[in-house]
Amino acid sequence: MKKTYFASCAKRSEEYLFQELKELGAGQIEKKGGGVQFKADDKLALKILFETRLSSRVFRLLDVYPIKNEKDLYDKVTKKWWHRVFDNNQTFKIQTLFDKDSSAFFKNSMHFTMKVKDAIVDQFRKETGRRPSIDTENPDISLLARVESRGRASGFNLKLFLDMTNTPLSDRGYRRGRHRAPLRENLAAVLVHLSQWDSGKRTLVDLFCGSGTILIEAAMKMLNLPPSYIKIKRAMRGRKSEFAFLNHNWFLDNDELRNWVAQYFDSVIKRSEAAKNSSSLHIVGSDLDISIAKENIKASGLQNHIQLIKSDFKNFKPEVNTESVTLISNPPFGERLEGGEELYYQIGQTLIQNFKGADAFILTSDENLRKKIFLKSTQKYPLFNGPLDCRLIHYKL
Ligand SMILES: C[S@@+](CC[C@H](N)C(=O)[O-])C[C@H]1O[C@@H](n2cnc3c(N)ncnc32)[C@H](O)[C@@H]1O
Repeated sequence: MKKTYFASCAKRSEEYLFQELKELGAGQIEKKGGGVQFKADDKLALKILFETRLSSRVFRLLDVYPIKNEKDLYDKVTKKWWHRVFDNNQTFKIQTLFDKDSSAFFKNSMHFTMKVKDAIVDQFRKETGRRPSIDTENPDISLLARVESRGRASGFNLKLFLDMTNTPLSDRGYRRGRHRAPLRENLAAVLVHLSQWDSGKRTLVDLFCGSGTILIEAAMKMLNLPPSYIKIKRAMRGRKSEFAFLNHNWFLDNDELRNWVAQYFDSVIKRSEAAKNSSSLHIVGSDLDISIAKENIKASGLQNHIQLIKSDFKNFKPEVNTESVTLISNPPFGERLEGGEELYYQIGQTLIQNFKGADAFILTSDENLRKKIFLKSTQKYPLFNGPLDCRLIHYKL
């Protein structure tokens, strides 16, 4: 039977997540603030959880409660047979997210969360004589309460979701060294998606590769490796905390689904071994300091597919025909690293001189710096890099 899910993503990436989920086979997809809602059966939902490159988390909808106020909320939530969703010896936590109108009405999300929690534990006590404990750090079960207004005077919808993910999907498991300003992995995946890089025909270059995020995300995509392959390896070694659903009753009670997941995991391990043992020359990264990228790429096992060159960007000249280069970079931008006007002017000059005919995509958050590149852009994609309002700018050189 199909169920409803919500996949969250970086702000302003909803459209691209929509496209990705469509390609993965999700049904009835709807864009929402901060993510995308869709329908899928159990297998497809898990396949999406393993294969989505752009999502941060995936949640399963448990119930929707039309509510008018907090009293109403308690009465409705307390009716659900929570002991069928999880056991009283499992720990849990709840996070509440209000939309704009519900935030203005309910004001205090902490208070709201406590009400939902009370309703759940009271029902557990009534049915089983015991209540599960709260663990806000490392819970077995994590619930999301999204409260959405149904329009003036009509009240609100409280949507209760079960987090299938545990640690965010963007934490792929390949980060070793600490870089000062790494890109979130699922945002790097958005950049690769937007560049439409054709890995069979073009070389991908990152002139400011830092910790190597764009390079590794591109390599995984080129090799058709699900971004969760490192988590899958760890889960196979017994780390059940890699994915929250491994602790959920709906999954544990379904033998057929468990077998399917075991087979899927086997096939991913085979694919990642094959990737490790093959080699290719389509991805090149450079930076003043490539030590952290080297560590991360080694941890990903994809070192045979990524070439690293220590270089100032001004001196970097691709060894291939530049017409077949797709360049994707996020240069330092004032906020955190020493990226000033001169550096951006030099980026423009380097692109004209060393990358004739290439497709270049530059992510920046500062409009004044962007202007110093002095090149005509083809397209600008608005994105958020954490809290920073950014543009990914496409230049056809
Ligand atoms: C915002 S970070 C890039 C982060 C990277 N995308 C990641 O995910 O880790 C900018 C990078 O530019 C590098 N950088 C600064 N000036 C440079 C220069 N003149 N030539 C090459 N790299 C430079 C820094 O070392 C830093 O790693």
